[in-house]
Amino acid sequence: MTAVDIGTLDDFVDGEARQVRVEGRVLVVIRIGDDIYVLDDRCSHEDFSLAEGEVNVATREIECERHGSMFRLSDGEPTSFPATRPVAHYDVRQSAGRVEVMVP
Ligand code: FES
Repeated sequence: MTAVDIGTLDDFVDGEARQVRVEGRVLVVIRIGDDIYVLDDRCSHEDFSLAEGEVNVATREIECERHGSMFRLSDGEPTSFPATRPVAHYDVRQSAGRVEVMVP
């Protein structure tokens, strides 16, 4: 497991998703308040970027803009159809004001 620095908390806009490339992976980073969530930036239904979708701050989910599946930010599990498989979820840690993604 490698901790990869992706910037500071303030590099990410509260309530929005942004694509980040880390160690050859394409990830989507979502900030809600002081929390950061990281998932693979690829819907599990078809090959589509989740970073294009809306973040639901209240339920802590992100919507795939293509067909509307919702994914839970905490573990990447789909909470609505048509997606039935989870997207990969990455652990995040914050230390000394920096945000690090744990990459296997
Ligand atoms: S591509 Fe994401 S729900 Fe279909």
